[in-house]
Amino acid sequence: MDAIREKSKKDIYILGIETSCDDTCASVVKNGSVILSNIVSSQNEIHRKYGGVVPELASRKHIEVIDIVINEALERSGVNLDKINAVSVTNRPGLIGSLLVGVGAAKAISYSKNIPLVAVNHLKAHIYSNILKNPDIKGGFIGLIVSGGHSSLYFVDSDWNIKEIGHTVDDAAGEAYDKIARYLGLGYPGGPIIDRLSKMGDPYYIDFPKPMIDSGDFNFSFSGLKTSLIYRTKKDEKLTAEKNIPSLAASFQKSIVDVLTEKTIKAASKFGVKNILISGGVAANSKLREEFLRKCRENNIKIFIPPLYLCMDNAVMVACLGYYRYLEGRFDDLEVDVYSRSDI
Ligand code: KG4
Ligand code: ZN
Repeated sequence: MDAIREKSKKDIYILGIETSCDDTCASVVKNGSVILSNIVSSQNEIHRKYGGVVPELASRKHIEVIDIVINEALERSGVNLDKINAVSVTNRPGLIGSLLVGVGAAKAISYSKNIPLVAVNHLKAHIYSNILKNPDIKGGFIGLIVSGGHSSLYFVDSDWNIKEIGHTVDDAAGEAYDKIARYLGLGYPGGPIIDRLSKMGDPYYIDFPKPMIDSGDFNFSFSGLKTSLIYRTKKDEKLTAEKNIPSLAASFQKSIVDVLTEKTIKAASKFGVKNILISGGVAANSKLREEFLRKCRENNIKIFIPPLYLCMDNAVMVACLGYYRYLEGRFDDLEVDVYSRSDI
């Protein structure tokens, strides 16, 4: 990557587009690290009453706002479309209907302006949310992606080959947060709400299981934790009394944070690396950030965590990854498809 970066002498402007789930995002990034605009149109209001993303509603809303969001990203950046060097868009993994909207818009821009199209992997883009502000990171690290759809660990070797070393066997961490918040009637999305409530609660109130913490592999499982909370609260109604909710939330969160931090640090030790990069919506969690900072310090590991606005889905990370693909000259043609599932 260093050699590729050297090659670029003139300023490169990438337009990023991200519509893989329920946020319509566009961004203009200069030289892979200078954020000129970052527009995110959230659909939380639409999906809130269902307690989760409704795919059909998501794609319809993307269609309504995609042009507005892209125009706003260009306007705020002060960069005319004629100056954009390439358009980078998420084409996998994600909701098919949602992905199609972003990819359709990117193809139209690529064709009409005769600029390269770069179709990128959403998970890889999450990793690049860290590289954006730390472009000198060397290969040879563990990456943890924790979001509403994924909880996966990756080993990235010194040549930047990315290998998945673990994933969730059932619910993703963010999904568990969202489902428990819905069960407790707290609202949507559940992660930020449980995070906020937990600050007022006792994490030792209930000793919830820490699924697969000692499983010997790098997989995760959060469905049993969710079931355990539901079972315990059905058996003992006082646990869900209003005054106990913060402690219930803090105990639930403690299990998730302990499992994520301990297994990630074990992975760093097993693969003999001293850098860990975390990303995805759940990386915005205040307790997770605090515990990673503490445990990594104790273990002499350097931890990279994106600023909050780059943890959640955004098009900045898509433009950043697109920039490196642009420098490599790896473009896609207008036939490029979308995929609901995809390895990194
Ligand atoms: O990366 P993201 O925006 O979208 C996906 O690719 O899934 O992640 C969204 C997920 C949701 O499940 C949301 O509840 C969770 O990230 N999340 C959090 C926090 N902020 C967002 N989870 C825990 N604590 C937070 N502060
Ligand atoms: Zn995401």
